[in-house]
Amino acid sequence: MSCIYSLKSFNSFGLAQFCQNLVEVHTKDALKTICLPLWQQQLPLLVLGGGSNVVFTEDFHGTVVRMLTKGIQVVEAADAFYLEVEAGENWHQLVEFTLARGIFGLENMALIPGTVGAAPIQNIGAYGVEFCDVCDWVEYLDLSTGESVRLQAAECQFSYRESIFKGALRHRAVITAVGLRLAKPWQPRLGYGPLQAFTAERVTAREIFDRVCQVRTEKLPDPAVLGNAGSFFKNPLVSAACYLDLAQRFPGIVGYAQADASVKLAAGWLIEHAGLKGFALGNAAVHDKQALVLVNRGGATGRDICRLAEHVIARVQAVFGVALEAEPRIMGAHGEGDLNG
Ligand code: FAD
Ligand code: EPU
Repeated sequence: MSCIYSLKSFNSFGLAQFCQNLVEVHTKDALKTICLPLWQQQLPLLVLGGGSNVVFTEDFHGTVVRMLTKGIQVVEAADAFYLEVEAGENWHQLVEFTLARGIFGLENMALIPGTVGAAPIQNIGAYGVEFCDVCDWVEYLDLSTGESVRLQAAECQFSYRESIFKGALRHRAVITAVGLRLAKPWQPRLGYGPLQAFTAERVTAREIFDRVCQVRTEKLPDPAVLGNAGSFFKNPLVSAACYLDLAQRFPGIVGYAQADASVKLAAGWLIEHAGLKGFALGNAAVHDKQALVLVNRGGATGRDICRLAEHVIARVQAVFGVALEAEPRIMGAHGEGDLNG
């Protein structure tokens, strides 16, 4: 069967790949009806949200299911607002929805592209708050049993850009809804750089939201203008000893101490100081304003992006001895692959 359905407008890199079947899903029943037979016949299946964290390296020889289920329910209790949100809701619109109703706690994560259903997968985070800080539970369809399962947040194995959905449940779980707990009274989170200028006693959630939107708009390229998937690499975690050694040899290196005594290095700094800011291979380039972001300058293929990523990894390894790991999911013809195929 030939691949005739374009995926170009469904991935934020704007990669011009195609798939065999493209299905929009609006209900959980439809999700089951479509996905379970494909899983049972071991046919290639890709559940897609906003396509803001994928790289298509080839045409996809299978079915792409677009999650478009909608619905937000709010229950107010004495200690918190409890939200139940369907997977196909847009994350940023959810942040705006809560803010407009005086429900606070998501403002630091404004403007993260993509769907609510994808948020638990890499435990999205920005400006000092991660999804796991507000997660109550995650509900998923287990493709291997056909059952709907609800995991409490503590069972989701959340850590920096990781969860059970990238681990033991990878490919097997389709997230259908998430439960959020937004605690009362609201406590602003002002630890991250540009937010430190605010005063905790006076700041409003709206001010944090506005500031985050402003900083993000200045720093990150708009996928509608310049294709990208946000940070292409995770910020690497190294031991304190390794960090001290690097800091001696590379004054100015940026690292953030973690609770477990490891240090999270700013990969953007490493890439810039390896001399790669603005570096291009064909139409794939390291963004000239934010070196952690790879961009499609127009007409790049997923393979071009992956070749550039491999070059970046090799240079950073050669200069600093630090291994970078790609953040987006690499999709080949029959399923998930890696940077080199
Ligand atoms: P997709 O790209 O559609 O899918 C990503 C992966 O999840 C794929 O493997 C897909 O199969 C799987 N998937 C999607 N939905 C489901 C589901 N319901 N069930 C099971 N599997 C599913 N991320 C951050 O953490 N912080 C940021 O600050 C941030 N900034 C960004 C800025 C820009 C400009 C861009 C383009 C991206 C940024 N990202 C950021 C990355 C991206 O927004 C997140 O990873 C987001 O959660 C992806 O959502 P999506 O719906 O687009 O997922
Ligand atoms: N830096 C440089 N040169 C660069 C880019 C960054 O020196 O070209 C330095 C900055 O000066 C700063 C440090 O690196 O000192 C960190 O930069 P920034 O604050 O922009 O954050 P980041 O580490 O690049 C991370 C997340 C983003 C998230 C922001 C804000 C990862 C992989 N990335 O970026 O998430 O929005 O912090 O919290 O953790 C994403 O995951 O797609 C994403 C965009």
